[in-house]
Amino acid sequence: MSIQEIRVCRVHDVPLRYGKRILIGDEDIVLMWHKGSLVAFENSCPHQRTNKLHEGMIINDEIECPLHGWRFSIIDGTMQGRTVRLRSFECRIEHDMVIVRIPERDFAF
Ligand code: FES
Repeated sequence: MSIQEIRVCRVHDVPLRYGKRILIGDEDIVLMWHKGSLVAFENSCPHQRTNKLHEGMIINDEIECPLHGWRFSIIDGTMQGRTVRLRSFECRIEHDMVIVRIPERDFAF
């Protein structure tokens, strides 16, 4: 499987307290700061498949969905006590730009 590396925004476009929503083709991704690093994961909450995680907050290494409070690990996307998980994406900063790595099978226009 090949990987697409996409420049999605500038570093200063990602707010400090909440997420930044990024739409790339069919992908709806949220970028957030966590302990000085950027993390990227799908913006779709498994509870009701809503796209509001970018409005959630990080609490104790978990992102909390603002709608009903489900929480997912920032580290691996898992939810305590359930089998659901968020897909996460590798990301990095290069010359003030945020680059997200998306598996090609997930990348469709
Ligand atoms: S839609 Fe996210 S917790 Fe309900």
